[in-house]
Amino acid sequence: MNARGTDRTVAAGAPIVVFDSGVGGLSVVKAIRATLPQAPLVYVMDRAAYPYGEQSESVLLARVPALLGRLAERHAPRLIVIACNTASTITLAAVREALHVPIVGTVPAIKPAAGSTRRGVIGILGTAATVRQRYVDDLTARFAGSCTVLRHGAPALVDYAEARLRGQPADETAPRDALASLIQQPGGDAMDTVVLACTHFPLVAEALQRDAPHPLTFVDGAAGIAARCAALTAGQPWPDRAATGLTLTTGGLAECRDLTGALASFDLAPAKRF
Ligand code: DGL
Repeated sequence: MNARGTDRTVAAGAPIVVFDSGVGGLSVVKAIRATLPQAPLVYVMDRAAYPYGEQSESVLLARVPALLGRLAERHAPRLIVIACNTASTITLAAVREALHVPIVGTVPAIKPAAGSTRRGVIGILGTAATVRQRYVDDLTARFAGSCTVLRHGAPALVDYAEARLRGQPADETAPRDALASLIQQPGGDAMDTVVLACTHFPLVAEALQRDAPHPLTFVDGAAGIAARCAALTAGQPWPDRAATGLTLTTGGLAECRDLTGALASFDLAPAKRF
């Protein structure tokens, strides 16, 4: 494997592992499927530790590198995508240190948001754990120094996305409340761009759009992640045609039964235990 990750000796069937605490990474799977349609995928949900946004840094630092290490041993992936802002902003450096597999992380799309805002006010909607990270301070200082940047952690919106994908009753106030918590902050009236800094949120972007009190541009990193996966696998062989991906969960299978339809819409098989 050279520094850019290209390796013609990679087996055509070697998968891309896409990892999240729950269904959020499906927003990234969608972008990867569009960019690399033949890529074999293994989608992994760490439902046993869901929600990551309510976990401490030390729990995630102990858990995520170990879990990804076991996945790498069992599935020999060509690439692992941490399709979770919370896990990425906390564990990315530790995972890269521990594993000899190229790792693509998901970090809040603050740079494109700073490029798109007209009024200079950006909201960052993530989990409670993500919005308190130094990583976010650093991205803000680097790319949005001239903007007002508001942050809000919205656990109810994560649960909302999980429920919606299962077709279960969901708290319909969650999208409006999450946006209101940004807009009510000083300067929030002028907010015109919102970073969806949790991979669950693009899955419910329509509800956010519908409930926004004024027009807002929503920005997320999925397309950029897919482009990065394409760059890191350039020149590698792929299977001749697209195939249904595997889905694995660390949680119970019963709670995944209602997800079968949603998983199928991303060309993923019903969940099995990891
Ligand atoms: N989808 C995840 C993220 O991007 C985490 C959601 C959660 O488990 O709290 O942060």
